[in-house]
Amino acid sequence: MSQVDYNPFSGPDFEDPAAAHKRLRDACPVHRFTGGGFEFISLTKHDDVLGALKNIETFSSLWGQGPHRKPAIALFNDPPEHTRFRRLINTSFTPRAAMALEPMIVALVDELVEDMVAGPARDADLHDALAMPLPVIVIARMLGVPEEMRDTFKEWSDSQLQGMNGTDPAREKRAREALAEYMLAEAEKRRVIARAGGEMPRDIISDIVAASLDDERPITDAEMLSLLTQILVGGNETTTSLITNLLWRLLGDRSLWEQIVADPSLVDVAVEESLRFDPPVLGLYRTTTCPVTMSGTDIAPEEKVHVLYASANRDPDVWEHPDEFRLDRDLNRLRQHLSFGFGTHVCPGAALARTEARAALHKLISTVPSLRLAGDPERIETFLLWGKRTFPVTW
Ligand code: HEM
Repeated sequence: MSQVDYNPFSGPDFEDPAAAHKRLRDACPVHRFTGGGFEFISLTKHDDVLGALKNIETFSSLWGQGPHRKPAIALFNDPPEHTRFRRLINTSFTPRAAMALEPMIVALVDELVEDMVAGPARDADLHDALAMPLPVIVIARMLGVPEEMRDTFKEWSDSQLQGMNGTDPAREKRAREALAEYMLAEAEKRRVIARAGGEMPRDIISDIVAASLDDERPITDAEMLSLLTQILVGGNETTTSLITNLLWRLLGDRSLWEQIVADPSLVDVAVEESLRFDPPVLGLYRTTTCPVTMSGTDIAPEEKVHVLYASANRDPDVWEHPDEFRLDRDLNRLRQHLSFGFGTHVCPGAALARTEARAALHKLISTVPSLRLAGDPERIETFLLWGKRTFPVTW
């Protein structure tokens, strides 16, 4: 199975996942990695990735989304448990809910970009000025977290991600405890209001509390926290990465940027092509429940399997000129990329992330059409994810 060298944790495969995925697709589409305490299979062909996402009986979510086995809880589950928790968050994430948030998002983008360009300096870190704060503030508002707690909130979110890497367990533990204390107190406040027949504030915590009050089984504190943490972690750095990845490609090839400045109707295609080309989540894990064969290779039960959306999105069997970033692709066809997953666990925040990225790009092309990169952005550290943690620009 594994004649091809591949190490997603460091070196060239960490720096350039697309090149590594291409090597695997061509020579070893079902690859076994062993090293650094990990052992897992990687799926790289589009049909295998989609097949695994559809076949949830064989490719189970019971042991978590990462390379280590973790116990099931809330959305990290298979149906029917998963369905129950998904229902609790669904009302907060309808396309209508995302549309209703659009004016707030556009106003926030205006504010952040105007702040960035105010003053005599004609350079900034666009990650710090726009790409990072935008989703953090949006999610904080959706959760009903007050503005003055924004920095604490960002620290919680970041250290949760660090936790996936296991690099600073003490920081992760502190952040988890602070988050737990705050969120559970907020949920309890809302339960008290609901039981007294009062009106809860309009936010995601209230939506979950309201939906769970009708449930036969009350939601536990641990389940509530898992849901809220997944929304927090799932929505923050991913959307930041979408914005930095998108600008990285557009500013990296001036002709693409100039096309969009001249024709803003290309913004939607640009956002979607960025999602296909540079998925903020490269792939997540499933665990096999029975023997299965993918691309002619047998996989045993109980294997951790890395389902690489990023590789599926560049499979030449499915995409024409997959390694070219193009603005002339058909938008409906483009939306078939797998960057938000597929099926049971498909990302509920997709419409929201797209709205934020579109608003950011519209504002930048109209306010700073002379925007350019002022150095090489640095890659974020988590091997599962693909995005930038710095983004120096000038205009
Ligand atoms: C560009 C931005 C985003 C990307 C690339 C992304 C990617 C993904 C992917 C690939 C999954 C599927 C997980 C799986 O198959 O196991 C997922 C699920 C999820 N995402 Fe997103 N996401 C983004 C934005 C958001 C936002 C803005 C939110 C919320 C505010 C969010 C919340 C979630 C949640 C709660 C799940 C779990 C769904 C379930 O298991 O049923 N995501 N996301």
